[in-house]
Amino acid sequence: MKVLVIGPHGRTGQRIVRRLNEGQHDAVAMIRHPQQRDVFDAIGVPTVLADLEYPIDHAVRGSDAVIFAAGSGAKTGKDKTVLVDHIGAIRAIVTAQVQGARRFVMLSALNADVASESQIAHYHRAKAHADHHLRETDLDWTIICPGGLFDDPGTGRVAIADDLHGTGRTSRDNLAAALVDCLELENTFRKSFSLVEGETPLDEALRAI
Ligand SMILES: NC(=O)c1ccc[n+]([C@@H]2O[C@H](COP(=O)([O-])OP(=O)(O)OC[C@H]3O[C@@H](n4cnc5c(N)ncnc54)[C@H](OP(=O)(O)O)[C@@H]3O)[C@@H](O)[C@H]2O)c1
Repeated sequence: MKVLVIGPHGRTGQRIVRRLNEGQHDAVAMIRHPQQRDVFDAIGVPTVLADLEYPIDHAVRGSDAVIFAAGSGAKTGKDKTVLVDHIGAIRAIVTAQVQGARRFVMLSALNADVASESQIAHYHRAKAHADHHLRETDLDWTIICPGGLFDDPGTGRVAIADDLHGTGRTSRDNLAAALVDCLELENTFRKSFSLVEGETPLDEALRAI
């Protein structure tokens, strides 16, 4: 499967690309900055230049699947949250539909809610609007909602639930593995679920969804 990774140079994105590259899929990395090419050239992963604030048809064309792992981050203004996490994500979804990339795996967040009153409500609302749009499509979508992300090595053990609200932490290793490993698991199609650190081996937890 040819898989376009959006946000591949991010801390989760790089883990996603590595896992795709170790497996049976062909990853393509959608980057904004040409200077990031070296990272992907070094592991033999092709890159395409595109920015979620502009049309990305040329990047999505020919892909079987999209993994959305981009985000405006905490250091930019609320305008970028709307432009990237909300409108940019919907742009990616619509482009996947137009370009025939049927599989769409979304990295969302615990507590994403259009009525959020959290301390980062603008972010939780943006993610929820994009997720809502994805659920309304006829794509084979999956939405994974992690808790607070951390970089320590993943245990490979997780807890998955269909309640998308709550607390918890998620290693970027486990998150990247889940985003990649669900690609061909049809039981995860058209499902949203939370993913935090837990006791169940990831593969077992994904197959039980
Ligand atoms: N941090 C948390 O605790 C937490 C919790 C739950 C969910 N999440 C979600 O997880 C996502 C991934 O987290 P992370 O820490 O791995 O992210 P990260 O390291 O900040 O990486 C974000 C990626 O998004 C890309 N990006 C930003 N704006 C873009 C645009 N306009 N067009 C294309 N790509 C763009 C960045 O590209 P550049 O390299 O070009 O900047 C970067 O590759 C977050 O964005 C958030 O939505 C985070």
